[in-house]
Amino acid sequence: MERGWQWMMVAQRLDGKECAADLEVDLLARISACSVTPHLAVIIVGEDAASQVYVANKIKTCQRLGILSTHISLARDSSEDELRKIITELNHDDSIHGILVQSPLPAHMDEDGLTELISPAKDVDGFHPINLGRLVQGRTDGLLPCTPAGVMRILAFYGIEISGKKALVIGRSRIVGMPMAILLASRGADATVTIAHSRTQDLIGICNDADIIVAAVGSAGMVTADMVKKGAIVIDVGINRVDDESQDRGWRLAGDIDPNVAEVAAYLTPVPGGIGPMTIAMLMANTVTAAECQHS
Ligand code: GUN
Repeated sequence: MERGWQWMMVAQRLDGKECAADLEVDLLARISACSVTPHLAVIIVGEDAASQVYVANKIKTCQRLGILSTHISLARDSSEDELRKIITELNHDDSIHGILVQSPLPAHMDEDGLTELISPAKDVDGFHPINLGRLVQGRTDGLLPCTPAGVMRILAFYGIEISGKKALVIGRSRIVGMPMAILLASRGADATVTIAHSRTQDLIGICNDADIIVAAVGSAGMVTADMVKKGAIVIDVGINRVDDESQDRGWRLAGDIDPNVAEVAAYLTPVPGGIGPMTIAMLMANTVTAAECQHS
């Protein structure tokens, strides 16, 4: 009988920090060639701890690249009208090139309606129906949703061919799952895409058939090694806090992919240090693109 070590694979780690650093070199050149300093406005409502960290990282990256940033923080019980007024002012402010409203918003706010209020030219999240509509039309040169665009970028950076491959996207959110599926299937990327969600039957069977798995569910370790085909490309979009008494803070970050998947997959993105840094880098890229388009 064959011994385990003869077929065990150790996946190559796809390093999001390295890929983001490569993108930042391009961005620095574009920023210095741009006739105006790009300026991003980030709005956060409430005190959600994870959102506060994400927003702080976005602002810190702006500072490192020489992108101007304005951080607007609203109390959790602020009215939707207050937020609408701020977005409208930012839309009309020529010195602001990008507007981002951190998700999730409190339940009393209409997130889709607020997304539509942002000027499509300043929609650096790429969530406005006009930008998503362009994506569906196959126009991938505009403001694309940052996390899915970051996944495409890291695959290209590592020279991973996806044309004709069977890709499975687990999760159908407007932020990741849906635009991810469209990008993977778009002309030039050419993957054959399945979208799995909470009502999907035989998820294990569908996973085992996939050449590429993108997990964006928000459930720590939900994709286990037995669900993954040997040699698959596995992208972990999950960022979950799990209890861990061995850490001073009492928790650690974990992805949607169980770490043991590294023994089966050919490529795997780590958490943290995988898609997280790519999302921020693509936000910076969208901000620079928005500034260039508004001043060309
Ligand atoms: N919350 C989690 N990811 C994102 C993102 O990419 N953009 C915004 N606006 N909020 C988020």
